[in-house]
Amino acid sequence: MPPHAGSSQRHYPSALYLGQPGAVDRELDWIVRLLPDFDADANRLLLFAQSGASGGWPLSAGDAGSAYCALPQECFGRVIVGTTCRLFRNPWSQAMLSHLYAAVRPGGSLVVPFVSEAEAQRKGYWSRTALEQFFGHGGREPGDQGVLVLTREGAPPVVDSTLRWHFGHRGSLPAAHAELRSRAGGIELAGVRALLGPMLLSEEPIAIDELTLADVLESEGLESVLAVEDYLIGGVGYKSALLNHIARRYLPPDRPLRFLDQGGGAGFLAAELALQPDLTVQRSVCVDASLAMALTARRMHDGLRRALADRFAFSLTRAGNFTYADQYDLISFISALMYMPRDEARDAASRAFEALRPGGVLIVHENIKSPSYKRDYDLMFTVEELEALLSPFGTPEYYLSTATIEIPREQVGQRSVFRVIQKQ
Ligand SMILES: C[S@@+](CC[C@H](N)C(=O)[O-])C[C@H]1O[C@@H](n2cnc3c(N)ncnc32)[C@H](O)[C@@H]1O
Repeated sequence: MPPHAGSSQRHYPSALYLGQPGAVDRELDWIVRLLPDFDADANRLLLFAQSGASGGWPLSAGDAGSAYCALPQECFGRVIVGTTCRLFRNPWSQAMLSHLYAAVRPGGSLVVPFVSEAEAQRKGYWSRTALEQFFGHGGREPGDQGVLVLTREGAPPVVDSTLRWHFGHRGSLPAAHAELRSRAGGIELAGVRALLGPMLLSEEPIAIDELTLADVLESEGLESVLAVEDYLIGGVGYKSALLNHIARRYLPPDRPLRFLDQGGGAGFLAAELALQPDLTVQRSVCVDASLAMALTARRMHDGLRRALADRFAFSLTRAGNFTYADQYDLISFISALMYMPRDEARDAASRAFEALRPGGVLIVHENIKSPSYKRDYDLMFTVEELEALLSPFGTPEYYLSTATIEIPREQVGQRSVFRVIQKQ
């Protein structure tokens, strides 16, 4: 049943645009010229900012909402994906496209930008052929403009992705969190293990002490996880694309991979990597010190248990306390080192590098201190600090976060890039 079954479909605006707020005017002018049957005034539009903070789903025309809210099904005559949406050709984006396709009325259309085959290969984006293969039917390309119009025919393709889980549980998450929170209130450390269930990395103790546990529940509660969930789930789109690319570039294709994400939040990235059809991931572990993140990870693990099988695990501990019982092929720190005291960050990076198998890779992505950041400015690394922290392990190679492209050191500057060091 559609999430809003019961309310009349007449209430839904006829078109939906997914993109960035700053681009909407330019994009819609272009779309109106490209699709002559599209009347921007008669069709009432919704803007879904990818960076939108609102978790709800806006019902009134012209409203803006989050790209990560669960949409009603078969309600829009046209859904337009803006060219500013960063859609890599991966399961996360497949789940997004499938969700949008499901929101189109039968006979209506989904409008998706694409690039040439060569650019798609180089940057990890969608080509026309890849889109048509994914949906299982052809589309049309008005005006040779790199935009595919796909008429809604059958059922949307089903994809295993954390994003699909997220859409499916969006409405029930606050209630689920409230329930977990009430169960977590006043529990002893011993109870945390039972609460987190079978996803816990079995050989790891929960290294969080009772004082920290109380702090975590009070100051960094589940509501704050809900507040950042769009950020956490949204980032998986490009982070999984880049980590997948790096894994295939540096590691032997036939090797069953062991991946570990330090400071990995609710484990969405670790889970998403385990779901990549072109990688064989044997084990994917998230380490995070927040109980609230662990509880969210448990909801996700419950929802994706069949697809994840026994391959996903969570360790509730500080990176500085984590002891590696195994070797890994890929270990990442993504917006994570900066939140640790610098001594802990150095120690955690060093022990991670030690735990890599020969040929394995350390991947670090941290926002670089810049006056444009207000939040967490004091915690951020300068380029020099981050390079000095990584220098004991070797010379990094650099990858953009906007495309699967390596760039030389001279072009990195102040950009927040993926820094990759392979263990010899
Ligand atoms: C900005 S979030 C990044 C989450 C995730 N890596 C991502 O990119 O979406 C920072 C995470 O680091 C975790 N964290 C902070 N200090 C930590 C520590 N000392 N050890 C492990 N995790 C830590 C926080 O709980 C939080 O989940």
